[in-house]
Amino acid sequence: MKTLVVLTGAGISAESGVKTFRDHDGLWEDHAIEDVATPEGWHRDPELVTAFYNARRAQLDAVQPNGAHVALAEAETFVKTTIITQNVDDLHERAGSSHVVHLHGELLKARSTIDETYVVDWRGDLTPGDSCPLGGRLRPHVVWFGEAVPAIEGASELMAQADYVLIVGTSLQVYPAAGLLACAPRGTQITYIDPHPAISYELTQRPGADVQAVAASLGVPAYVTELRHRLTSEKQ
Ligand code: APR
Repeated sequence: MKTLVVLTGAGISAESGVKTFRDHDGLWEDHAIEDVATPEGWHRDPELVTAFYNARRAQLDAVQPNGAHVALAEAETFVKTTIITQNVDDLHERAGSSHVVHLHGELLKARSTIDETYVVDWRGDLTPGDSCPLGGRLRPHVVWFGEAVPAIEGASELMAQADYVLIVGTSLQVYPAAGLLACAPRGTQITYIDPHPAISYELTQRPGADVQAVAASLGVPAYVTELRHRLTSEKQ
């Protein structure tokens, strides 16, 4: 079976009602990214950061996967599909995708501030009193700017196995995620779906890439249908 590796960003969830990061003058849901998505922001005001992610977690109950998430889940029926997402929402899982790597963490998990191996599922609000068995305060299980991205190594290995790479809804500005494309073998067919595609350095190195300036809910189902046809006719 051929292998499809999909790199998704905030844009795939935009049509579900989750705001992207860089479309609003550097503000994310009315907050400066440095205040809510850096270790410094956490040390300055953990209450603000906790409340911010509590609101993001609560928002998950109000949003649903859209046609792009659903199409990627359906792709599993005819191509070995792995999704590498920069998103902390659970919309890929709720659409039915079973191989999802969260590069930047997950809203529905919390982890200890003194033992980063202590990671627990989390629903509802996180409060200042929530702690790990060693007594360390729990924080959102989200990778902030300036922090290591532990899942990047596995993601690079997955990318190196790809027959097809699909990139959806990301501004390709944040590394190391944006650099993953460099790990795809030469000859891999690369498609990038984003209404305002960003031409990153890695993309300029792949002149054969198919860049489609359309919304995810339009472009992704069409891509999946076309791939299905192609793989089915290759088999015959
Ligand atoms: N369909 C597809 N793409 C869309 C849509 C849509 N309907 N609407 C917007 N987009 C695109 C925008 O054109 C933009 O290129 O989604 C992209 C969103 O870019 P960013 O907001 O920069 O999000 P992302 O690339 O995922 O950010 C990467 O940065 O803030 C950190 O850790 C955070 O994971 C995040 C990382």
